[in-house]
Amino acid sequence: MDGRVAIVTGAGSGIGESTARLLAERGLAVALVGRRRSRLDEVVADVAATGGRALAVTADLAHRDAPRAIVEQVLAELGHVDVIVNNAASFRLKTVEEFTLDDFDDHVAVNVRAAYFLVQAALPSLRASEGAVVVNVSSAAAVMYRRGQTVYGLTKAALEHLTMNMAAELAPDRIRVACVRPGPVATEIHTAVADPEARLRELGSLVPLGRVGEPVEIARWIGHLVDREAGWVTGSVLTIDGGRILGPPGA
Ligand SMILES: NC(=O)c1ccc[n+]([C@@H]2O[C@H](COP(=O)([O-])OP(=O)(O)OC[C@H]3O[C@@H](n4cnc5c(N)ncnc54)[C@H](OP(=O)(O)O)[C@@H]3O)[C@@H](O)[C@H]2O)c1
Repeated sequence: MDGRVAIVTGAGSGIGESTARLLAERGLAVALVGRRRSRLDEVVADVAATGGRALAVTADLAHRDAPRAIVEQVLAELGHVDVIVNNAASFRLKTVEEFTLDDFDDHVAVNVRAAYFLVQAALPSLRASEGAVVVNVSSAAAVMYRRGQTVYGLTKAALEHLTMNMAAELAPDRIRVACVRPGPVATEIHTAVADPEARLRELGSLVPLGRVGEPVEIARWIGHLVDREAGWVTGSVLTIDGGRILGPPGA
């Protein structure tokens, strides 16, 4: 058994769910964070059925006090925090004209502020851990410039900056901080558009390797970064995108 405790945000679906299941299989106790309790409970029940340990933590990361409350609950129920996977995100495709102040604040709150303050709230426990790791989930949108993605993209670019700056500051505490940068993956996040299947087909056609990714193809790399064998990796941003940021096939 690994013995570490991981917090995975957005763990009721997609990449977060896949990551939570993978970490639990490896013997970490996993706290699953999200707003939809029923989705978290399903994963917790599956993990328990296979002998793993998991806890559902219902929280809305848009709320200022959510990170501290999450860490307090996890410390009370699981004892320590060793790993944080900042995966949950707000994602709305809107043009510069359409984006409202509330949309903007929500994206910054969920995609950047919550990630920052989850780490801050867990710092004493992370410092005491023999295997402390933070993995942030960015997006190819951090380095691509597409219509409707100004605010989502800027939050992901900010998350990559946060990754490297925190990695530098926390290295003396032996807390590693890394980041994965996925290209298009088949998850519920694409239900934000009118025809998700058409969007995934279109996105797949823009990927040099010819298809969108599956959640587990990102989760595996998050798992590698969490693994103790990655003990000399910090500040890294790992692109996992089938070549998406290189440009369209044949470019
Ligand atoms: N799929 C892609 O093409 C793609 C590409 C690049 C990067 N990413 C990144 O991958 C990460 C995971 O996304 P996904 O693709 O797996 O999509 P997803 O299945 O929609 O997962 C997002 C999760 O975040 C949770 N969440 C959203 N807002 C929240 C809030 N305010 N408080 C708490 N939890 C919240 C959602 O659960 P609740 O609704 O229950 O709260 C959901 O489980 C995101 O950071 C996304 O930006 C995805």
